[in-house]
Amino acid sequence: TVVDNIAGYDYGANELATSPVTMKDLDLLKQTITIDSDDQKYLRMAGDVLEAQTESIVNMWRGVISSMPHLAYYFKNEAGKTDEQYKQKVKERFKQWIMDLCYKPYDQDWLNYQHEIGLRHMSAKKNKTDDADAPAYIPMRYVIAFAAVVNDSIKPFMAKNGHSLGVIEKMHKAWCKAVLLHVTLWTRAYCDNEW
Ligand code: HEM
Repeated sequence: TVVDNIAGYDYGANELATSPVTMKDLDLLKQTITIDSDDQKYLRMAGDVLEAQTESIVNMWRGVISSMPHLAYYFKNEAGKTDEQYKQKVKERFKQWIMDLCYKPYDQDWLNYQHEIGLRHMSAKKNKTDDADAPAYIPMRYVIAFAAVVNDSIKPFMAKNGHSLGVIEKMHKAWCKAVLLHVTLWTRAYCDNEW
């Protein structure tokens, strides 16, 4: 499930900066979100269900973004046209993110890549990885708010392998906590010391 040849996917790369978030910060954040080893067990189960569906999942999220001009804007070039090549490149990393969210341990490499993803949504690094000329940053409020879509819409995909409703519920709860953990870490790139 871990792919090395996705363009711009720098998870674990040596040149990646160390996250300003410490392991201690991460530990307290995990406690605050109440994500535990049981959640991680259900996330792995979710990964097994979602693995074959990542393309459809990202297409579905993309449909939501395309339907809202104020969000579609962030994938458009200076001429106001959707940059399909940019979207395609980002899509492969997005698919891998679904797998990483389900399977990756919360170690230093993981932490560093979360900071990188935050930077890639804001002005420090947006567009740089794919050499795009789309708007310079995604406002932080939309990154946070879009979690509602990412969380709500995943549930039907979790039901595909015939798990009981109780298990699906636990996978979904774990997913929502994990998304909140990711998005919270990504906001670090937008914030200064008061994060
Ligand atoms: C990149 C997830 C919100 C637009 C990415 C990537 C992921 C991701 C996994 C690829 C990271 C990588 O390079 O490995 C999410 C999640 C969100 C969210 C989970 C909310 C919960 C948004 C919103 C927009 C957006 C609201 C606005 C349209 C983009 C763009 C990129 C990107 C344009 C490419 C950035 C670049 O130039 O490298 N996102 N995203 N994202 N996302 Fe988001």
